[in-house]
Amino acid sequence: MLVTLKEILDTANKEKYGVGAFNTPNLEAVKAVIEAAEEVNSPVILQHAEVHESLISIEEIGPVMLDYARRASVPVAVHLDHGATFEMCVKAIRQGFTSVMYDASSKSYEENLAETKEIVRIAHAAGVSVEAEIGHIFTSEVGSGEGGQADSSEDYEDLEDVYTDPKVAKEFVKATGIDCLAIAFGTVHGMYVKKPKLDLARITAIKEQIDVPFVMHGGSGVSEENYKIAIKNGICKINYFTYMSKAGGEAIKEYIANKSIDTPLFFDQLSVAAYAGMKADVKQAIQIFRG
Ligand code: 13P
Repeated sequence: MLVTLKEILDTANKEKYGVGAFNTPNLEAVKAVIEAAEEVNSPVILQHAEVHESLISIEEIGPVMLDYARRASVPVAVHLDHGATFEMCVKAIRQGFTSVMYDASSKSYEENLAETKEIVRIAHAAGVSVEAEIGHIFTSEVGSGEGGQADSSEDYEDLEDVYTDPKVAKEFVKATGIDCLAIAFGTVHGMYVKKPKLDLARITAIKEQIDVPFVMHGGSGVSEENYKIAIKNGICKINYFTYMSKAGGEAIKEYIANKSIDTPLFFDQLSVAAYAGMKADVKQAIQIFRG
């Protein structure tokens, strides 16, 4: 059933578990995520990232995500991930998405605050939840679909300037009225090229200031133990894509490796292999997040 992000996350925040938010830029991914969530009877979030417009547009994949969400036996929110423009957020709201992320975290604090407030006013009037971000979450040079945006902690002299400041987070949430907050504490979008160094105590410090559900971006490649600590400290939504997509790619590799070189390859078989690989990976991730 289609529900808002706020409904899913407020319950997760109260009961202290994590909910997976998976990017689904193709039908195989949509099917994999919904079926995995149904098999473990867990709420789930389907999300379309604005950067994935290069793979498929919201006009094409949005109605598919919404249709699968409505027919699912578990609560499903359909969310815009990293909305970069006012226009994209309004497009998602008009399509029927039940939440949007407006990401102005690379702009000045004042601009982020003013623009996020404007999105909240429109989204809440339409019954749609809002996620926003304070701090800066790094992007690795190795990953799918987010090329050209890579940066690294070495680009910054002082991590205190990029990780979420607890006091600023409190002020931002109170002033904007957002439903959940993406926080920066060392996770990275894409593949980790170095072992992740997470400031997990920062989640607790932010939680002591403000009790809204927090979002972990760059959820792929975090250890099971660190997911558990992050969830215990206040993370409720875990954005996860790279490892799921990699699991689909690896399943195709394995399918091909089991064929002799002169066997013809058929795309529909590759698509089924990718769907099955993604589903197994997503199912495992959801189970870890649920604890
Ligand atoms: P990963 O691709 O690193 O799993 O992160 C996904 C994400 O944060 C989408 O917003």
